Amino acid sequence: MVDQASSLRKLMDQKTTETGFALAGNSKNTIVLSVTSGKGGVGKTNIVASLAEAFRSMGQRVLIIDADLGLSNVDIIFGVHPEYHIGHVIDGEKNISEVLLTTATGIKILPAGSGVTELTHLTQGQKMNLLVELGTLEGSFDIVLVDTGAGISPNVLYFNAAADDCMIIATREPTSITDAYAMMKVMNTQHGIRRFKLLINMVRESSEAKAVYLNLSNAAQKFLSNVVIEYMGFIPQDETLQRSVIKRVPVIVDNPGAASSQSIKKLARMIMMSPRTSESGGNIKFFVKRFVNMGN
Ligand SMILES: Nc1ncnc2c1ncn2[C@@H]1O[C@H](COP(=O)(O)OP(=O)(O)OP(=O)(O)O)[C@@H](O)[C@H]1O
Ligand SMILES: [Mg+2]
Repeated sequence: MVDQASSLRKLMDQKTTETGFALAGNSKNTIVLSVTSGKGGVGKTNIVASLAEAFRSMGQRVLIIDADLGLSNVDIIFGVHPEYHIGHVIDGEKNISEVLLTTATGIKILPAGSGVTELTHLTQGQKMNLLVELGTLEGSFDIVLVDTGAGISPNVLYFNAAADDCMIIATREPTSITDAYAMMKVMNTQHGIRRFKLLINMVRESSEAKAVYLNLSNAAQKFLSNVVIEYMGFIPQDETLQRSVIKRVPVIVDNPGAASSQSIKKLARMIMMSPRTSESGGNIKFFVKRFVNMGN
């Protein structure tokens, strides 16, 4: 395993020299934030889409990685049509610039392919393709948002563990709360992650969201070692958001004055001000390296 990791590093360094991608721009401030949940359908993709727009309007260069390899749908929310996806990059058929989509407002999306089901068993060559191609993006983005699938499959866990920060979304539903707890537990026990951001979606008022936060933080304090949950507030239940989904436009663009849009703007500011969790993070290459080395 050590041999595998070191030979990968050697290959990587060699490729770096060949392609020169390591020279691209200053990347030390890139934030890689995964947005995840235990239970599905809690609003991850919609929040990622509007959050991306909020960051863009703050002058940030934003990349969304659609990491929901089963039921990818970031492109649907933005009304764009992917021709190629991350699977083509992994298999060396396309380079990253051929695969990235650009939304109407200039946000870049790396589409997921529904045929790509296992990122946890990549061959050395496939890992290399991912490292080199995503490495060329170094310095091109300030924020990378990773929209994961639901549940605690290895793919989802790998993306979350590789990101600098992991934001879990839960709702008031008891199943969503227990699944959010399960996500923290497995991330903590299997990947040693101790800090999580927590956002509560689809609530009527702040007290409902705080109750969910307290419930989860009490459980974490009692049963998990050294887990710290950073409360990121809530997004209200908002019919406007549902109407925007039908129009295939992120709510923050479709209706900037909506209650959900306002909350997402506030969330974007909070994320910008939040202390960084990962000690070795802050750039895309570290993120990809952590990802591909996960199984070693
Ligand atoms: N704040 C909100 N107010 C009202 N409805 C919402 C809100 N957030 C999300 N929804 C509804 O929930 C649906 C599911 O949202 P979304 O697809 O973003 O969830 P998800 O967590 O990405 O789902 P999956 O786990 O399947 O990827 C949306 O189509 C929308 O109708
Ligand atoms: Mg989704």
